[in-house]
Amino acid sequence: MADIGNIVILTGAGVSAESGVRTFRDNGGLWEDHRIEDVATPEGFARDPALVHRFYDARRAALREVTPNAAHKALARLEREWPGQVLLVTQNVDDLHERAGSTNLIHMHGELKSAWCRACDARMKWDEDLGDHPACRACTMAGTLRPDIVWFGEMPYRMDEIYAALAACDRFVSIGTSGAVYPAAGFVRQAREMGAQTLEINMEPSEGSLWFHDARHGAAGELVPAWVDEILATEQRR
Ligand code: OAD
Repeated sequence: MADIGNIVILTGAGVSAESGVRTFRDNGGLWEDHRIEDVATPEGFARDPALVHRFYDARRAALREVTPNAAHKALARLEREWPGQVLLVTQNVDDLHERAGSTNLIHMHGELKSAWCRACDARMKWDEDLGDHPACRACTMAGTLRPDIVWFGEMPYRMDEIYAALAACDRFVSIGTSGAVYPAAGFVRQAREMGAQTLEINMEPSEGSLWFHDARHGAAGELVPAWVDEILATEQRR
């Protein structure tokens, strides 16, 4: 299968924007109303856990109102139909990729629908609010759960697997991310140095746009299905 090619796809908030999930840095983005240091750092959580729980509880609850869009669905179709490996690495903490059907998926910044117990270190699926101090399902202690979100200053998840996949991929595609947050913003250079073709799909040029071989600018809901149709059609002609 080596000649078929492995694909690594990185997604960010822009892929979920057309589903109605707010991005971070656009006009009207989450970081306009909230200070990163208050709601997205371990220090902020230590200072005011109630505020941090309110922020993530509201975002978890909002997931009930949204559904996957055409971009999520096209990426799930690519995984199903592409003869090589497709790994989806998302910075998003929503669950729209898995609801669309993607399975080879890494949530490098954690998940809204997961809770992490600071007492026993267990992680568990979580749908309800954390702000009312529920008990950990593993160790039964109350008030020890935190959102299973990677905050600034913490290490993103499964980085060894991600770097191994970047080193082995033939194409790297970045979708709906501003390229403002490392290490994800550096993936394009890792993949390119190891020989991958690189493509950016984003509403506007990202901060790292110059690192990509190709770029398509516009709405993910239109551009991603078109790109998936295109590469699956090329594959069928081989
Ligand atoms: P940003 O909000 O920084 O960037 C979203 C990007 O998506 C912008 O460049 C938009 O132009 C683009 N965009 C918006 N709507 C789009 C659409 N319909 N189609 C295509 N592109 C669209 O979000 P991220 O890059 O994901 O981390 O942010 C990275 C990380 O910063 C997040 O994971 C989060 C945040 O702080 C943590 O919380 C740890």
